[in-house]
Amino acid sequence: MTDALTAALEARGLRWPAPVEHLEVAASTNDRLKDKARAGAPEWSVVIADRQTDGRGRAGHPWISPAGNLFLSVLLRPVMPAAHVPVLPLAAGLATVEAVGESGVEARVKWPNDVVVDGRKLAGILVEGLSGAAGLQAAVVGIGLNVALQPASFPEDLRDRSTSLAAQTGRPCAVADAAAAVLARLRVWYDRLAREGPPCVLAAWRERSVAWWGRPVEARSGGSVLRGIVQGLDERGALLLDLEDGSRVAVVSGEVSELRLAETGSPR
Ligand code: BTN
Repeated sequence: MTDALTAALEARGLRWPAPVEHLEVAASTNDRLKDKARAGAPEWSVVIADRQTDGRGRAGHPWISPAGNLFLSVLLRPVMPAAHVPVLPLAAGLATVEAVGESGVEARVKWPNDVVVDGRKLAGILVEGLSGAAGLQAAVVGIGLNVALQPASFPEDLRDRSTSLAAQTGRPCAVADAAAAVLARLRVWYDRLAREGPPCVLAAWRERSVAWWGRPVEARSGGSVLRGIVQGLDERGALLLDLEDGSRVAVVSGEVSELRLAETGSPR
């Protein structure tokens, strides 16, 4: 895989600036890369695995990780104002949407950073920070992208909610090519975030987002459930909701789903 990935990166004119470790099996590529980060691995170090035995998603959910899909973690050592760091996961979502666009798949980002096609999840992103006495030392960006698997082979509860590159395009896709595309786009958006700050990332993210601006949603965050109308993103990438009582809240983490008209009663 590293040879195929190196070749795919070189075909794009990219010489990867840090070590790429390929494992046939990892518990979690994020955990593996966090260990390497603590041991001093340089920025842009990559861990990629054919499958994971303990893949993790946001909010402690498992990430089903059979061979055929992409499991990729990238190490960043952000040198930017702390206020810009929360935008990093959105930059990773944007990069993934652009990467799959190269295969002709029109995906959208769904706040906070799912990548979906017609409401079905194509990729998920888990960004984990490592802090030391001096603050944030590193961020591990973990990306799980469904490449080869057909939804029929997913667990039953995920079948109607998941998709893959192969299912979308009707042709086989190479994991190494998908990885190279994600890495290349991540470099672009991370560099822009570091150089120009959040506005450029947030503007591009809005354009690539599911079109729920002005629509009612339900946000589950930290044990509370909020229903409101989506107004936009703030400068950190938090989701701004107008609640029925006229107040505006910024949701910084959680899961958000669109409400159909029949579901929009008074907020709970
Ligand atoms: C989510 O949508 O909940 C995020 C899923 C993130 C999965 C990826 S796969 C590579 C990396 N290693 C992990 O254990 N998780 C992330």
